[in-house]
Amino acid sequence: MDMRVSFGGLSLKNPVLTASGTFGYGLEFMPYGDLKKLGGLVVKGISLKPRQGNPMPRIAETPAGMLNAIGLQNIGVEIFVRDKLPRLPWRETAVIVNLYACAAEEFGELAARLAGEEGVAALEVNVSCPNVSEGGAAFGAAPSQIRRVTEAVKRSAGDKPVIVKLSPNVTDIVAAGRAAADGGADILSAINTLTGMAVDVRKRAPRLANVVGGLSGPAIKPVGLRCVWQLARALPLPVIGIGGIASAEDALEYILVGAHAVQVGTATFLRPDTAFRLVDEIDALCGELSLQSFEGYRGSLSI
Ligand SMILES: Cc1cc2nc3c(=O)[nH]c(=O)nc-3n(C[C@H](O)[C@H](O)[C@H](O)COP(=O)(O)O)c2cc1C
Repeated sequence: MDMRVSFGGLSLKNPVLTASGTFGYGLEFMPYGDLKKLGGLVVKGISLKPRQGNPMPRIAETPAGMLNAIGLQNIGVEIFVRDKLPRLPWRETAVIVNLYACAAEEFGELAARLAGEEGVAALEVNVSCPNVSEGGAAFGAAPSQIRRVTEAVKRSAGDKPVIVKLSPNVTDIVAAGRAAADGGADILSAINTLTGMAVDVRKRAPRLANVVGGLSGPAIKPVGLRCVWQLARALPLPVIGIGGIASAEDALEYILVGAHAVQVGTATFLRPDTAFRLVDEIDALCGELSLQSFEGYRGSLSI
């Protein structure tokens, strides 16, 4: 089986990536597998300045999933470039930097800082900053904002492919994807977490200090599949599937509905070697299904 995939200016040795925020800066996972085995890794969301994140507790377990409200804790772009990036095997495995900001200009500045870094294969734009002045709704929910942010990143990104990561917390995911395409995105990734909350009846208190958080894990896979299917059918851009992927079958489900690659997120919290194992398991499942490459299988769902 030829596991290689190429799309939107990215060439990966296999379609398995790690999802931002669930794989640290990559280095933390070296004890669990060979990073060079992965198609790529997406690092924790990086902002211009370091961020402390939200108060604890920031994680709560839910049926078939988890809620998190980490609050984009990160070391900031300068320390990432100085201390982390040089230690990653970026020549062998694509290192994708997830960008976090709350204004189009800030996104542009981040992209400009990373555009010249040889070790960065692509930029992934997280448009899910909560807009406090508008009741906490993510500003990435508005297509006009998504377009503006995408344009700002694309203008400063040089020749790095720009991936726009879409939030499922919208009524029309295709409108969001189209806005990213109009802004010049090379690739879409979907989905980010679904907004949710959990409460404790005895303490009469929320389980997260931030009250609301993002739901992830197996519980959201049907939503992710639906979003990727809608995006891949409606738009000419390649899509990276995310949401509840823990097995080779999960990954092939996303490819069947149109994804070019997948990202493994919450499953890594259960087993830190999940993404590494998935590379072999996908190969084995493709053998079982007699697939020579992903080309003929991708998007071949019969309806
Ligand atoms: C603890 C945690 C932190 C996350 N941090 C980020 C982040 O910094 N940037 C981002 O775009 N997505 C972030 N996400 C979302 C994931 O990358 C992914 O889109 C989501 O969890 C759905 O995939 P999963 O069901 O496989 O976890 C985070 C998710 C979790 C669970």
